Amino acid sequence: LNYNVGRERRYVLEVLLNGLRRLEYRGYDSAGIAIDSDLTLEAQNDNGKCKPYHSSSPLVFRQEGKIESLVTSVYSAVDKLDLDLEKLFLVHAGIAHTRWATHGVPAPKNSHPQSSGEFDEFLVVHNGIITNYEVLKQTLVRQGFKFESDTDTEVIPKLAKFVFDQARDGEGGVTFSQVVMEVMRQLEGAYALIFKSPHYPNELIACKRGSTLILGVNELGGETSRHLFHDVKALTSNEKPKDLFFSSDLCAIVEHTKNYAAIEDNEIVHIKDGSVSILRFDNEKEMPASVQRALSVLEMEVEQIKKGDFDHFMKKEIHEQPGSLTTSMRGRLKNGIVGLGGLKDHMRTIRRSRRIIFIGCGTSYHAALAARPIMEELTDIPVTMEIASDMLDRKALIFKEDTAVFVSQSGETADTLHALEYALENGALCLGVTNTVGSTLARKTHCGVHINAGCEIGVASTKAYTCQIVVMVMIALAIGSDKLSTLAKREAIIADLTKLPEQVHDVLKLDGEMKVLAKSLIDEQSLLMFGRGNNYATALESALKVKEVALMHSEGMLAGEMKHGPLALVDEHLPIIVIATRDDSFSKQQSVIQQLHARKGRLIVMCSKGDASLVCPDGRSRVIEVPQVVDCLQPIINIVPLQLLAYHLTVLRGYDVDQPRNLAKSVTTQ
Ligand code: G6P
Repeated sequence: LNYNVGRERRYVLEVLLNGLRRLEYRGYDSAGIAIDSDLTLEAQNDNGKCKPYHSSSPLVFRQEGKIESLVTSVYSAVDKLDLDLEKLFLVHAGIAHTRWATHGVPAPKNSHPQSSGEFDEFLVVHNGIITNYEVLKQTLVRQGFKFESDTDTEVIPKLAKFVFDQARDGEGGVTFSQVVMEVMRQLEGAYALIFKSPHYPNELIACKRGSTLILGVNELGGETSRHLFHDVKALTSNEKPKDLFFSSDLCAIVEHTKNYAAIEDNEIVHIKDGSVSILRFDNEKEMPASVQRALSVLEMEVEQIKKGDFDHFMKKEIHEQPGSLTTSMRGRLKNGIVGLGGLKDHMRTIRRSRRIIFIGCGTSYHAALAARPIMEELTDIPVTMEIASDMLDRKALIFKEDTAVFVSQSGETADTLHALEYALENGALCLGVTNTVGSTLARKTHCGVHINAGCEIGVASTKAYTCQIVVMVMIALAIGSDKLSTLAKREAIIADLTKLPEQVHDVLKLDGEMKVLAKSLIDEQSLLMFGRGNNYATALESALKVKEVALMHSEGMLAGEMKHGPLALVDEHLPIIVIATRDDSFSKQQSVIQQLHARKGRLIVMCSKGDASLVCPDGRSRVIEVPQVVDCLQPIINIVPLQLLAYHLTVLRGYDVDQPRNLAKSVTTQ
């Protein structure tokens, strides 16, 4: 959303459409926008009790497909309507949304803004899910509302209209925030919502429960006041223009302002004539109280969300890893000691825990799996692994003596957040590892560590994965720092951590080699990856990368399990990547390679530099040689060539690298 004072319509359109481009990585099957028109809408209640309203009816565009198709149709509609793009608005409020379908297929009718019906009296964009929408819909249908979409969201604007119609007949009418408050009382689920209505032409309302909502403030031509919002006085037509932004993600506002506030659950933000007020429900039955909020300063550079010289974000992010790993470690390794400010108040409790549970989804789960061996080795605390959805399906046992570590790049994955709620209810100490400052995960955990990988746009996670591993290794070092028995190992890790960015830089030179390898694999139906110990996660993660972006079937397998089934698949055609870099399980991997050779397996072996003749004595297999580092950091080195392989396979097979079919960067619904 963009709300501004004293701007042209063209500017508003561009800000909104560009904001959608920035958020496209979050969902890209359909999109929509609503802006103010010049048309005048007049209406009066039938019984004449309330004042007539007189306002601009909004122009609404909804489109299936990528943002660029919305852009094209908006501009061609604007031309046809002969709309004056240079028209200056005293106050202009526009809303826009990009969607990843949950309820209802991608189609214009299912895109947001969703509408209350004729005249678009209430328009809503929504991030999240309304769980009681069926009950609400039945009630509204009984009241005569006709539903057009298959979305859960459509109940919201219709409910707003219902509340508005009921209330405006009363004495003194009803304010926009009163309407939204009543709507919030009825909604169950998770949501960040923005409402626009021609009944309240110079106003916008945003509210949230569960999903993230950010407010950005930019007072042009002057220092933005960092004081409380109450001190940001309303602008009049004589004052300088001002932009206000709402977004579910900081990426959409970073190019406009660095001043932002994260809106909390149960808050309603009311923008009226350029001034902002925040109301908070502590108890739904009572009237909300007005709250004050200071602005924070965003530590993100606009370059982070641009492709620069790279063709794709995925490639850029793979190549950024030496830098992102450096940032992840910055200020945290001093004189051989790991300092993690976000954990220090809870360290005693963590050390005393009976068990550490790692919880995550997708790539984040794999990062935790990669860190599991070192966490057990350095802490002497048993570590169990939970995929968030499975933990909830099983209602897995979790106790107050447990430390539950939640790993999530976005900090907004619904499965992970539900698992977090479950762990909190059961009294566990909850620790978050996330890339997103201000995310729900960051706010709801007791303590945590930001991975500081920088904004990740490519749907397939790359730099966040390696930074997550580094951070979890540092957490293991910090928890285990009081143990003499592991001192030598800890020193070796810290020494290699400092050299890690350079080693990753080195391994990135395999780019060309990986492209050649990818060329030899483009027509394959399937690709297997065998790993074990520290690199079981590397097998799973590289297979996931190939699946999600190159759209090729790929399975990561525990090499120790090979002879218990997967060996039956082996023949001279099926390509198999075996990870056999040096660590305690190297000799076991050597015998796996021999068994695969004995079945004429088509092998690609990843080994430590100088080991080619050891892993492939007859020279029949293809070999990828990588630098050797301490065992727990080896997964970081090993994944890089395989990320590059997945990238090149995708490009060569002609698929969309950054926005793979059917996937979204953060899955905010269960
Ligand atoms: C989605 C993405 C995956 C990601 C997973 C977990 O499925 O497509 O790439 O690994 O969510 O995301 P998180 O933000 O919790 O790390």
